[in-house]
Amino acid sequence: MLIKDEISFDEFDDVINPRNEDNGFDEVVEGAISRRGFLSAVVTVGAGAFLMNNTGLTKVARAVVDPFGFEAVIANSEDTITLPPGYKWESLIHWGDPLWSDGLEFNPETRGTAASQARAFGDNNDGMSLFRHEDRHLMVVNNEHTNRSIIYGNRTLGLPVNSDDVNKGKAAHGVSIFEIQQNSGGWSLVKDSPFNRRITADTEMEVSGPAAGYDLLKTAVDPTGTKSLGTWNNCGNGETPWGTYLACEENFNGYFSSSDPTLEIHDAFKRYGISVIDWGYGWAKEDERFDISKHPNEPNRAGYVVEIDPRDPTTTPKKRTALGRFKHENAEVVISAGCRIVVYMGDDERGEFLYRFVSDDTYSADRDHSDLLNKGRLYAARFNEDQRGEWLALTPEATGMSEAEICIHTRMAASAVGATTMDRPEWVAVNPNKVEVYCALTNNKHRGRKANKGGDEMPAGGPNPRKKNLFGQIVRWVPNNQDHGSDQFTWDLFAMAGNPLTSEGDKAGSSNITADNMFNSPDGLAFDDKGMLWIQTDGNYSDEGLFEGMGNNQMLVGDTTTGEIRRFMVGPKEAEITGLCWSSDRRTLFVGVQHLGQKGNSSFPGGGSSVPRSGVIAVSPEDGGLIG
Ligand code: FEO
Ligand code: CA
Ligand code: CA
Ligand code: CA
Repeated sequence: MLIKDEISFDEFDDVINPRNEDNGFDEVVEGAISRRGFLSAVVTVGAGAFLMNNTGLTKVARAVVDPFGFEAVIANSEDTITLPPGYKWESLIHWGDPLWSDGLEFNPETRGTAASQARAFGDNNDGMSLFRHEDRHLMVVNNEHTNRSIIYGNRTLGLPVNSDDVNKGKAAHGVSIFEIQQNSGGWSLVKDSPFNRRITADTEMEVSGPAAGYDLLKTAVDPTGTKSLGTWNNCGNGETPWGTYLACEENFNGYFSSSDPTLEIHDAFKRYGISVIDWGYGWAKEDERFDISKHPNEPNRAGYVVEIDPRDPTTTPKKRTALGRFKHENAEVVISAGCRIVVYMGDDERGEFLYRFVSDDTYSADRDHSDLLNKGRLYAARFNEDQRGEWLALTPEATGMSEAEICIHTRMAASAVGATTMDRPEWVAVNPNKVEVYCALTNNKHRGRKANKGGDEMPAGGPNPRKKNLFGQIVRWVPNNQDHGSDQFTWDLFAMAGNPLTSEGDKAGSSNITADNMFNSPDGLAFDDKGMLWIQTDGNYSDEGLFEGMGNNQMLVGDTTTGEIRRFMVGPKEAEITGLCWSSDRRTLFVGVQHLGQKGNSSFPGGGSSVPRSGVIAVSPEDGGLIG
């Protein structure tokens, strides 16, 4: 079977393991997403705030009355970055830029070699963080994946043709760590900084936590089951209170294949989308550990959260198996009222689950933190129709699985306890000023039509109320007792994305979605220190049909008190906007621009006939003021 070049990861999983349509589901619960329903309180104030923005007040005056501090950007389909009046952007780094002075500058003819890529910024950047270390600024960026049509655009079919091509692809994945500095010309990379580092699909990792050393993790080259090689498909990220970075392994499955095409795929592999064919990179042809007929336990060593210390380039990254194995989106870390470490995590696949980890030990800044993410309990969320919810503990008693198995086959453990199947949970973000949590549920075309890969039904209802959900929504929950450690919460929907101009009933979205801010497929989420919610999209950029008026993928800001949402940025053609972090003085916002031109229609940032190159841009007010 030939996998079409730029098929997305979720489409790939559908192709290799299609689910039958199930006709037994109820229709959409009438009124569950009514534009006058439970979001009405959110909207009334929001509409007033929006009007206030158009009164012509100066930026300074608006800052007093307007929590946004910028004018809304109009949707468009341009091949550039569009920002509010008074804001500018500059490129910080793009795919193929060398981190060291002995590296080769990006070559648009060859698009790099394995050797040049290993010394350069990876491709398709996603989650990122900026750390202060002494007087330095250290940036850590996930390089999630790569588009074959672009990275192999020098090959006739846009596919790897030799060993060097495959190794270039492996080196374009992983994590890039580099120092940046600011001078009168703006922000720039510090080449040759002692902190610069590339972590790729071949970097040695330590496997830690309850699954370390378990039989399912042992391989021919690592009979201890404690040392794996590499991390790939790192999507969103997280930061710990002790200053380390968390890289989250998402669609790890699409890199494995079998040299024996008749190999029988067992249920655990099916649940995680592992099959005899890969997503098109051909890694198994050059590196036998990706051949599941020869190394059947290798896929069990991927799909984790990886902890990296950006301040010490000699440290070995640690895979934290206690945080579970699934298609990790990001890892939002917060401290509970009882000083335990709580990590909220989404599993981005149709009908998979939302998770929470709670550490056994308590956090204190002056104590050793090396074991905090190794010992604790995983929970999966159940959302009830009455807008209450609970965290279901994934214990051996509740799941019938050992502690190690729960960490490796986490999806099955969550199915066993009856967690709620969700509309592809992407990033989770905790409000720094309130005890409340938000998660982007990006879309789910199978909602109300098919079961998930484990056979769990996906009826429309609760926080996933729309059948055949093409637009997505943002759910929020408030833990009981103002404590992220509580096992109970209440929930509502902050926004139901949609097109308010359509007359097709459930597609209009919630009342805080207007003709001026509409979007689809919310994905990246992060709060600024004012408590404003930044929303990034990864969706349909056709600007046609139901998506007409949404333009390219974009970034918006939500006021979680009033419900108002305002567009801040529009990205270039065919790009996803993903990953963001602020400079410590909040005068610069770093934003990721990923897989632009994935269908051949972008030349960003170079313009003309340039090769499109994913990258990080630095956004700042022209007057040197604060963002927002
Ligand atoms: Fe890599 Fe779910 O986004
Ligand atoms: Ca994402
Ligand atoms: Ca996405
Ligand atoms: Ca992506």
